[in-house]
Amino acid sequence: MRIIINPNRSVGTISPNIYGHFAEHLGRCIYGGLWVGDDPEIPNENGLRSDVVGALKRLHIPVLRWPGGCFADTYHWRDGVGPAESRKTIVNTNWGGVTEDNRFGTHEFMELCRQLGCEAYFSGNVGSGTVQELSDWVEYCNMPGVSPMADLRRQNGREEPFNVKYWGIGNEAWGCGGNMRPEHYADLCRQYSTYMRQYSRHKIFKIASGANVDDYEWTKVVAERAGFAVDALSLHYYTLPRDDWSHKGAATGFPREEYYSVLQKTLRMDELVAEHGRILKKAAPNRRLGLVVDEWGAWYDVEPGTNPGFLYQQNTIRDALVAAINLNIFNNRCDTVVMANIAQTVNVLQAMVLTEGPKMLLTPTYHVFDMYKAHQGARQVETYAETKLLNCGDWQVPDLHVSASEAADGKILLTAVNLSDTDDTPVEVLLAGAARASGTVLSGAPGAHNTFDAPETVKPAPLSGIEAGDGTVRFTLPACGVAAVEIERE
Ligand code: AHR
Repeated sequence: MRIIINPNRSVGTISPNIYGHFAEHLGRCIYGGLWVGDDPEIPNENGLRSDVVGALKRLHIPVLRWPGGCFADTYHWRDGVGPAESRKTIVNTNWGGVTEDNRFGTHEFMELCRQLGCEAYFSGNVGSGTVQELSDWVEYCNMPGVSPMADLRRQNGREEPFNVKYWGIGNEAWGCGGNMRPEHYADLCRQYSTYMRQYSRHKIFKIASGANVDDYEWTKVVAERAGFAVDALSLHYYTLPRDDWSHKGAATGFPREEYYSVLQKTLRMDELVAEHGRILKKAAPNRRLGLVVDEWGAWYDVEPGTNPGFLYQQNTIRDALVAAINLNIFNNRCDTVVMANIAQTVNVLQAMVLTEGPKMLLTPTYHVFDMYKAHQGARQVETYAETKLLNCGDWQVPDLHVSASEAADGKILLTAVNLSDTDDTPVEVLLAGAARASGTVLSGAPGAHNTFDAPETVKPAPLSGIEAGDGTVRFTLPACGVAAVEIERE
């Protein structure tokens, strides 16, 4: 199979934010996964698990979205500030009806972002909150001088403003965020945005609640009516093996057709980003109205025996391919996608890490984010892959999926996915001046995964047998394989 890399053509710089994440008050994502408070059994720094934070730090997470998801439109931020013992206990009505005692709030989340070295992305409550409440949250976080909210922040132990840059105006306003019509949401979005003030030279970036999958009408109406009041609109698209939310399909032990259905449905992200992007461009021809894919990833039936409201699922080589293909798509469309946030970071949906008490494992998806991280901030470059089609039942996918970027030092990073579940593929890369290359590969059976007893079943290995010289790089990409290849030119 031949891949041509043309560094003379580029659609732009790959925003590091494309490698963003999402952590919701859902199941064991925050409590148990990230936050353990003063649990003496689990080493932590200021209540945050040291093993999980250490693993996530290696990914260079640029931005983390919080507190939801659907939870965000039931969240009242004042419940989560001030002395922990006097915080309000509420019911998490979206996710399992569990008790939420607000031990993890604004200050704890900002401490997590500090430890990770990432930007915060707050999802504001529009569905059940008020304009004043969201306006106050921005003031609480970002006001440097004297004001009622800045004084309250100081009273709660934080002198300097947090300077939270990214603010979502509601979440899934078409669904759990209020079941609104786009016309109604667009008006609310304008109103909320008006009172989300700029308090210092740190410019805030406002994100409107965008469409579900291919609801292009939502994007059109919101962009045309409220686009001037925001910097971007979001998009949510999850990959399910089957078109049935009650029987989505299993995370492991799935039939072959569901390997291919998941890959074909993942590839649909390309068409969705392109079409929503076209609408945004038309609605705002003279400025950049970005697309923020702030929820994406694979969604399966929960692991047997776990709380259905906790969305805990295993993560296999199939998920590594889902991550790799989506990230290739975002890289290749970085002129449209300004941020993306995989759902979710720990113990929920397509997670980076899974935990069980004090144990932690890295998922195949984690390894893909690690292998791809050098794309962050690099210049996307054009690629062409000579593919052939693979068929399985009703499903059809190309055998190869790629993206490439050029770093500031001129090195090229090629990331390539072999979608075949049976055939290793010899790859020949044509790149003018290619002289040296090395790489890493992640592969296995489609359902291969890590468990707490065998946490290293799936892990990256050096790409052996790679050859480079005279403008050509050759290697073999194993079946169900993801490779990251660094190429140096003369
Ligand atoms: O990520 C899980 C849920 O999926 C989020 O809370 C919601 O926004 C979406 O429907």
